[in-house]
Amino acid sequence: MIYPIVKYGDPVLERPAENVTEFDTPELHKLIEDMFESMYAARGVGLAAPQIGISRRIAVIDCSAGENPAEKIVLINPEIIATSGIQTGEEGCLSLPGFRETVSRPNRVTVRAQDVKGEVFEMTGEELLARAFMHETDHLNGTLYISHVSPLKRDLIRRKIRKLAKAGEWA
Ligand code: NI
Repeated sequence: MIYPIVKYGDPVLERPAENVTEFDTPELHKLIEDMFESMYAARGVGLAAPQIGISRRIAVIDCSAGENPAEKIVLINPEIIATSGIQTGEEGCLSLPGFRETVSRPNRVTVRAQDVKGEVFEMTGEELLARAFMHETDHLNGTLYISHVSPLKRDLIRRKIRKLAKAGEWA
């Protein structure tokens, strides 16, 4: 099932999501499958559950955008446990369509998470994957990437979105 993507302005995007405590259930498997499907339909490389209106600590990532099944990653209850270096580049978010901003992130990031069965694992990513680990974990903490741009830029984005909303083009 393809869910519509929740857009900036919905409070679900700005509150911390709840921990997942039950694993390997048919419901969890289905939700993860639906998250991948929704992410691919929206042409994203990462999606957090709050972005489909579900406030639970689950994110899916695929930096190959559906080209390589080996790159599919599921993070449940993820925590960033180590970061190093820095990368500066453009970042976007499916919940803020039409916007892309320059954001600095660590270049190498290690995440600790649980898989669909509840097994704890650690994974280290660089460049785009490191950026995705940071971006998606942020989502689960109720933080959007525009928190990492200058207040001036952020205001500009908010103003543009208010205009779009007034015109009925942001829903
Ligand atoms: Ni996002």
